[in-house]
Amino acid sequence: MKVIHTVSELRAELDSETNVGFVPTMGALHDGHLALIELAQREADVVVVSIFVNPTQFTDDQDFAKYPRTLAADIERLESLTKTPDILFAPSVDEVYPDGIGQPLAPRAGALGSVFEGVSRPGHFEGMLHVVSWFFQAVRPQVAVFGAKDAQQLFLVKRLVHREFSDQIRIVEAETVRSQSMLALSSRNSRLSPSGLAAAPVLFEAMVNAEELITEGIAPSIALESARKQIESQPLAKLDYLALVNKENFAPIADDFSGLAQMLVAAVVDGVRLIDNISFYIQEQE
Ligand code: PAJ
Repeated sequence: MKVIHTVSELRAELDSETNVGFVPTMGALHDGHLALIELAQREADVVVVSIFVNPTQFTDDQDFAKYPRTLAADIERLESLTKTPDILFAPSVDEVYPDGIGQPLAPRAGALGSVFEGVSRPGHFEGMLHVVSWFFQAVRPQVAVFGAKDAQQLFLVKRLVHREFSDQIRIVEAETVRSQSMLALSSRNSRLSPSGLAAAPVLFEAMVNAEELITEGIAPSIALESARKQIESQPLAKLDYLALVNKENFAPIADDFSGLAQMLVAAVVDGVRLIDNISFYIQEQE
């Protein structure tokens, strides 16, 4: 695996490649990231993984400061894979933001930038879309792999590729990797105390219970209310939002909806903000 820090070195490596797979990350690599890399390796000849803790997508300075930075351990982990990625691209903040990070960013997220994750993290998606677009221009991949875990991010990245990259990058969605307790893996989980770790699976459990109710024919709004109560009954969890959207357009659904739905949850568990989601099909009611 070559470790590269600048766009010019990267272009020298990639200019003759025609089937490049790309996996963007912020490091602190866990099995969820590794699953994305494996998927990219099945889809492309050359795989580039990036590690960059992007300052503009953090709305809270504390959160940015506390974000785990473990580049040496990440490199070791990647090097120990049976099949290592070809390139680790780890640019500096100056490489990504030559004019500094205070510049206004293009308003790419639109209305979706201020709902769900956008409510408590204003500007987050503009920062994320800016950096993903920057990486797409630097790496010029044919395929890029993103995790289903960050549903709103994935939806916005697909829209970015459609709007600004003429659908020339194939976006592959990787299933959420979970621990044995079904907690979605996240770099932030390392900040959970033992009691936080024990409480956090309630998010997934509540969503699955609501899905079951909906599948049995209970109205989505009633099923959501039941999931909300389940989460609120966990003293360590402070619910931020729980919602059901149409996976096609990310718009909240009414009780008579049928089609592919996505349930979204965000909560602060024991001081750590966690998100999760599940997707499932809602049958037409007779
Ligand atoms: P990061 O949180 O490091 O996640 C990198 C990729 O890993 C994302 O596509 C994310 O959805 C995926 N991922 C995280 N946890 C996962 C899990 N448990 N199962 C499957 N995939 C998982 O998302 C970002 O970084 C940044 O916003 C980034 C896209 C790199 C832009 O800065």
